[in-house]
Amino acid sequence: MTAPVDPTATPAWSELTALHESVRADLRGWFAADASRAERFSFPLADLHVDLSKNLVTDDILAALLRLAEQTGVAERYAAMLEGAHLNTSEDRAVLHTALRRPAGASPALVVDGQDVDADVQSVLDAMGAFADRVRGGDWLGVTGKKVTHVVNIGIGGSDLGPVMVYEALKPFADAGIEARFVSNIDPTDLAQKTADLDPENTLFIVASKTFTTLETLTNARLAREWLWAGLTASGAISDADDARADAVAHHFVAVSTALDKVAAFGIDPANAFGFWDWVGGRYSVDSAIGLSLAIALGPEAFRDLLAGFHDVDEHVRTTPLERNVPVLMGLLNVWYGNFHGAQSHAVLPYAQQLSRFPAYLQQLTMESNGKSVRWDGTPVTTDTGEVFWGEPGTNGQHAFYQLIHQGTRLIPADFIAFVNPAYPLSDGGQDVHELFLANFLAQTKALAFGKTAEEVEAEGTTGALVAARTFAGNRPTTSIFAPALTPRVLGQLIALYEHITFTQGTIWGINSFDQWGVELGKQLAMQIAPAIGGDESAIEAQDASTRALLAYYRENRK
Ligand code: F6P
Repeated sequence: MTAPVDPTATPAWSELTALHESVRADLRGWFAADASRAERFSFPLADLHVDLSKNLVTDDILAALLRLAEQTGVAERYAAMLEGAHLNTSEDRAVLHTALRRPAGASPALVVDGQDVDADVQSVLDAMGAFADRVRGGDWLGVTGKKVTHVVNIGIGGSDLGPVMVYEALKPFADAGIEARFVSNIDPTDLAQKTADLDPENTLFIVASKTFTTLETLTNARLAREWLWAGLTASGAISDADDARADAVAHHFVAVSTALDKVAAFGIDPANAFGFWDWVGGRYSVDSAIGLSLAIALGPEAFRDLLAGFHDVDEHVRTTPLERNVPVLMGLLNVWYGNFHGAQSHAVLPYAQQLSRFPAYLQQLTMESNGKSVRWDGTPVTTDTGEVFWGEPGTNGQHAFYQLIHQGTRLIPADFIAFVNPAYPLSDGGQDVHELFLANFLAQTKALAFGKTAEEVEAEGTTGALVAARTFAGNRPTTSIFAPALTPRVLGQLIALYEHITFTQGTIWGINSFDQWGVELGKQLAMQIAPAIGGDESAIEAQDASTRALLAYYRENRK
């Protein structure tokens, strides 16, 4: 394990500190003085066009940021990751989500810790594809001989957010008449509502859990099993004999996990389980067997296209010099805003309703990865780390929280994501509605960058105190990501872009972006509190005063 570099002790950090003090943000002036700014600060990334020109950077600032990447060893660490180095130090694991999307037959083969990783990945992909084809083609049938019409993925965190986000994004590609649903929350409402209108005879459950120990997922899987048995028994489809129940589970439950022994203990035939490996972090796993629901609903070919998109970006990062390396540049910009401008959050604003779950997906990817206070050698970080990621699709957000981005006192860098061609071209009295939508995307980034001066407001006839209220300071940084259309391949590129942005930031800060110890304490305490909420006096006594009072409130109000 190489010791992390303290970024704040690098010459580049000092340069950036000085530049932050001396350079006044002036997007109007910078664009006026440099006719080539838009072109010079725009970059291709596979099928994506990424315009960084409306960020608060000059050539000098960008050059210093690139020196920061060099001085903290971003390229070297990326190479180490691709080779299978155990970058996840606290769990002593390789970090190889990039191996999940290497094309079949990639040469030389990737062998890590004595394992032919490529062969393992391709064999699971083939098994997923074959299974998905059976379900889609009606060769896999429910226990009463009915074709599957609904697939319900039961998982949480990385075993849910990726599949649900991709499914929502690529629904127009769902071509087999199979609907996917996603149950994650241990709030029983989630399972109850998602199964309320389903028929057990044509429902297939996928229990997706890397560890197969997660409380929410195993509880929901047991509830789903009861729902299946109850429905099939009530309709007379099966008897309540043990072997009939086991047969029903074999036809209606499959699993995705790294712990195939635990899958068998649950009663799912290991022949119907799809594996992955401890070198895939949960939040980096949508492109593993965790994407089985996608392979079924969208088809194995669309799933392979998604993986090809991820690989496009992996290759870009591996082969492109830092100064044109888009994920590195975007990661550096995030460091610039977070560590030098004091930005605490980062908005992601897709101008695509299909990407409505993308911000939630990114929250786990970025915040579970980089919400850390210690570095990979266990020493404290030397500067602020992970910012809060959030967002909603435009134009909805425009009528909700954009006010604060435009005129609030906090700097909120924002990524806008848009697509030239819509999934559903519609026109309203001759007006192409997608064009109207895109006009909003362009208008917002323009307004944020260039604002509106008091003189411009006055020129419109406004006077007095209203002038200040109607003035926009501008210099609110945005990145525009534009692509021809939201296809599986483009979506893979988008996801991989943010994975590598996250990696760049984590490396600069010296943190392990691949563990998540911060989620453990709450899980432990929930297990200690569960008996207390059930009324166990000694468990109640063991709680702090506030928790005891809340438990008392619960008991008083429980019907
Ligand atoms: O509690 C956090 C977490 O461990 C995530 O990192 C993970 O994606 C999620 O739980 C689900 O874990 P599993 O796939 O093992 O059920």
